[in-house]
Amino acid sequence: MSADSGAGETERVPLEAWPEELRRACQGSRHFREIRVVRETPSTQDVARAMGVGGVAMAWRQTAGRGRLGRAWQDTLEDGLAISVCVPAEVGALASVAAGIAAAIAIEGAIVAACPPAPTVALKWPNDLLIQGRKVGGILVEGDGKLLTIGIGINCSQRQFTGELTNRATSLALHGASVDRLEIAVRLLPELDRWLHTEARTIADEFSRRDALVGTELSFSTASGIVSGIVRGVDVVEGIRVETHDGVITLDPRTSCIVAKLS
Ligand code: BTN
Repeated sequence: MSADSGAGETERVPLEAWPEELRRACQGSRHFREIRVVRETPSTQDVARAMGVGGVAMAWRQTAGRGRLGRAWQDTLEDGLAISVCVPAEVGALASVAAGIAAAIAIEGAIVAACPPAPTVALKWPNDLLIQGRKVGGILVEGDGKLLTIGIGINCSQRQFTGELTNRATSLALHGASVDRLEIAVRLLPELDRWLHTEARTIADEFSRRDALVGTELSFSTASGIVSGIVRGVDVVEGIRVETHDGVITLDPRTSCIVAKLS
């Protein structure tokens, strides 16, 4: 393929070879049955959702990626990994945390292979992947009662970010790792398959090990107004536990988000 802009031009494996490599990565998978690679799409979420259970969709270029809480996900054309999978709703409430863990492991593996040692990829409740405090990726889970579509976006070859992302985002390239998006996806899919099938206790332990927020003082926007306090931990099913003046409360990730860091 001839990519007309973006870092995709420098990738070692061309688009035509992606489906076969992804199929190989999904051999023996419990959850993934069908691979679709598209040159361009507004959102891989819609492609995977249309494929139904077992679908895996990856885009060379995603033009209108969605983030959590109605935000946009800026893929900056071909610099980022955009991949979505569709699983039955029974996979459950831990799907988003499981996907975050799988993505963290895939990123660490890719960085170690490219330029060791890898920094730890931390998880910032509920769905952000951080390297040294900056966002390198995010997870979006969309459900309709029957199906869950899990989308994973990872910043790969961006050399700079602009606007509000300038001091908040990072990429693998900014950490010295020149890694093809396909390589991350090939590492990610088997991890995702495994973590979607992992028991809750193990998922909770792994999240705690990577938790970026415990002990920090934050303000949250919630359904009942602004809540401030010290993060005491995350219950991976119920939400984040915050110690406020009125005691410890648990905030639901579907209706709450961080608005300020106080310490
Ligand atoms: C967030 O941080 O708010 C979540 C970002 C999720 C982005 C990914 S990219 C692949 C998939 N397609 C989308 O439109 N969004 C997700």
